[in-house]
Amino acid sequence: MSMMDQDILKVLYTQEEIAARVKELGAQMYEDFKGKDPLFVSVLRGAFIFMADIVRACQVKSDVEFIAVSSYGNATTSSGAVQITHDIQQDISGRNLVVIEDILDSGNTLSFLKQYFLTKGAASVAICTLLDKPSRRTKVITADYIGFTVPDEFVVGYGLDYCQKYRNLPYIGVLKPEVYSGE
Ligand code: PRP
Repeated sequence: MSMMDQDILKVLYTQEEIAARVKELGAQMYEDFKGKDPLFVSVLRGAFIFMADIVRACQVKSDVEFIAVSSYGNATTSSGAVQITHDIQQDISGRNLVVIEDILDSGNTLSFLKQYFLTKGAASVAICTLLDKPSRRTKVITADYIGFTVPDEFVVGYGLDYCQKYRNLPYIGVLKPEVYSGE
């Protein structure tokens, strides 16, 4: 048991369960995007691990880009204002985008990004999120590909962080409340 494991209340999805689901999503997206030269866009930082796995699970001819955004507000509640801190590096007009996210929560980030990419001329913008937390949604947005639908719990691992830590856990777990209480 690692030091990080001791901060985990329970495991929601094991490394094996995640791998199996990623494989299914990759196969599904392969059927939907073969021949369409999709551009996979990962939203940093949380999606970096999912991105690496999903593009290998979906063997279509494609390329990758990364975008980083920041939303303002306190640690757990997004204010709704989204700013791009690192933009994609190429012209996306006419391209079929697949935005890769680790979690769809309030929907602020993805509703902003979807509109942003459409404004920049993308032919289509699909959303693939590993986790969906619909109970927290404040924007009308749905993902096209969802790994798992999760309850409103503090999840970390497989890219998801608490104060930038725990991203490298190979599984997805719920953080013990004592770790973040007293914030
Ligand atoms: C998380 C996650 C999504 C966003 C989802 O990012 O990676 O980008 O929040 O929340 P929303 O639906 O309420 O907008 P975070 O701001 O924690 O940054 P990170 O990706 O660097 O962890």
